[in-house]
Amino acid sequence: MNSILEFGQSRRSGRPITVVTAYDVLQARAAAESQVDAILVGDSVAMVVHGHPSTINATVEMMCLHTAAVRRGAPAMVVVADMPFMSFRTGREAAARAAGALMQAGATAVKVEGVSGHEDVVSHLVGSGIPVMGHLGLTPQSVHQLGGHHVQGRTPAAAQRLLEDARSLERLGAFACVLECVPAELAGRVTGELSIPTIGIGAGPDTGGQVLVITDLLGMDATFRPRFARRYLEGHGVVVSALNAFAQDVRGRRFPAAEEVIA
Ligand code: KIV
Repeated sequence: MNSILEFGQSRRSGRPITVVTAYDVLQARAAAESQVDAILVGDSVAMVVHGHPSTINATVEMMCLHTAAVRRGAPAMVVVADMPFMSFRTGREAAARAAGALMQAGATAVKVEGVSGHEDVVSHLVGSGIPVMGHLGLTPQSVHQLGGHHVQGRTPAAAQRLLEDARSLERLGAFACVLECVPAELAGRVTGELSIPTIGIGAGPDTGGQVLVITDLLGMDATFRPRFARRYLEGHGVVVSALNAFAQDVRGRRFPAAEEVIA
């Protein structure tokens, strides 16, 4: 996709939207050459690239650096950049500055977790011409308040709150909404009530699309295998095997070979 307007078209036609995270130029280039619709520069970068225990460690500077790299790898694609922890909770001006920096780094749109308490920020960004993607359900920036990375919306009251938040995001002008780790039935209900598309992760099949973290999809972390994330490659094993082949070739004096020697 080259424009966020295509999200709405997909919602109307029923064509599922595919989104993958990317954090660097080579991942972005692969995504751009693939049939995936859009890239998310997720604040998951703090965990899967920088090794932090949660997304709380992502900063505006970190997100801008990775957004710019992704944009260089995918010049024409929709690139959504995460507004990191607290960047949209210290007032409208600070949020606008953070979003502006992400847009100038190359984002097409920004993603904001939650909505309650920062409705003014969402509508200010949308009113300023910055497309906003919502993110409800498990909002990892609130991991400590949620008591861990747990499924959300299980009780009738929590499900009702989530539904109201989703309606609120739509009303404020968000163009799409990620639903993370919510029961499939609730995700289907929210999706049916909204005219903007939902993008699920751990939210079952009845959403307007799916997003996966690229390192989960590629199996790059042998120690992390969430139930909802399908591995399309055993990337960690492939990389370790390649490194072993290199080490063995050097020790066996098979690398470099004649054709790899600069005369
Ligand atoms: O940061 C991220 O990768 C995300 C996805 C899990 C949706 O927000």
